[in-house]
Amino acid sequence: MKVLVLGGAGYIGSHTVYELINDGFEVVIIDNLETGHKQAIHKDAKFYQGDLRNKEFLNDVFKQEKNIDGIIHFAANSLVGESMQNPLKYYDNNLLGTKVLLEAMLENNIKNIVFSSTAATYGEPKNIPILEDDLTEPTNTYGETKLAMEKMFKWVSKAHNLKYVSLRYFNACGAYYDGTIGEAHNPETHLIPIVLQVANGTREQINIFGDDYNTKDGTCIRDYIHVTDLAQAHILAIKYLINGGDNNIFNLGNGVGFTVKEVIETAEKVTGKHIKAVISERRAGDPAVLVASSEKAKSVLGWKPKFNSLEDIINSAWKWHRSHPNGFED
Ligand code: UFG
Repeated sequence: MKVLVLGGAGYIGSHTVYELINDGFEVVIIDNLETGHKQAIHKDAKFYQGDLRNKEFLNDVFKQEKNIDGIIHFAANSLVGESMQNPLKYYDNNLLGTKVLLEAMLENNIKNIVFSSTAATYGEPKNIPILEDDLTEPTNTYGETKLAMEKMFKWVSKAHNLKYVSLRYFNACGAYYDGTIGEAHNPETHLIPIVLQVANGTREQINIFGDDYNTKDGTCIRDYIHVTDLAQAHILAIKYLINGGDNNIFNLGNGVGFTVKEVIETAEKVTGKHIKAVISERRAGDPAVLVASSEKAKSVLGWKPKFNSLEDIINSAWKWHRSHPNGFED
């Protein structure tokens, strides 16, 4: 089977490409390398550098790559804070990009797409764990553009013969088992990489964004899910569509929440280093608690996340950070 991966040089995209290739798929990657890394591209994948807002470019790729069975679409901007400062960047890349992609898919008769959505579509949740049909009221532009993408797929699917699966990730983390690829954002804003940068000495301290939330130790609770488990869910979702599955939306998380302080303590245990942590102001737009119910992905897709221990997750991330203290060198 042949799959086109948009954003296959990015964090979750590159891990999914590795798993697709391990599973015997033929993989074609499109990435504009704005946030992706050349070194994260699997050597057995065919790579086209370009932007999904460029329809001519997309049509050229589709002309060269016949018989694509499905698309997995990761190509988007995904920083909550940045999306609040520069909302139009998010509308342009995430929404306009997806619109152009949909036009090219229709013109080239490609029917199946799996794409990245996010827990940020829910906003401040009313119930924990969060179910897929809970209220979606994003509190930031990033979540709003992802929700709008979901709706764009819904209406285009009604009008044309196209099927989609939306995967709402909770907190992606960890790295490939052998430490060859991992999480490398610039600037880094995510908790686990920052904590591990303190452990490996490339950063002085971690600022804990608020300790006055209504949680057991006052810090925010998140549901941390290993990137390889996310990658496996994409493979199951694209197979589900190729085998005739209908449009669907799935949460992807472990169903267990950890506070920021618990993450730091676990990282100290895993690394054997003291991690300097300083309490600072809350970060705008952070919900207190985000924990997924992923029962639907388990029952419909047969998804079985393997990394359910925070210690194992942080250990895999540590292997990557220790061997790549400056991330990718490209
Ligand atoms: N945090 C800190 N200090 C830091 C960084 C993070 O205390 O330096 C805290 C945050 O306040 C939050 C937790 O650690 O409580 C996790 O923060 P991340 O930035 O790692 O992740 P988020 O939960 O903010 O974001 C994730 C995804 C987004 C997605 C969002 C849904 O990365 O793509 O969940 O709310 F939109």
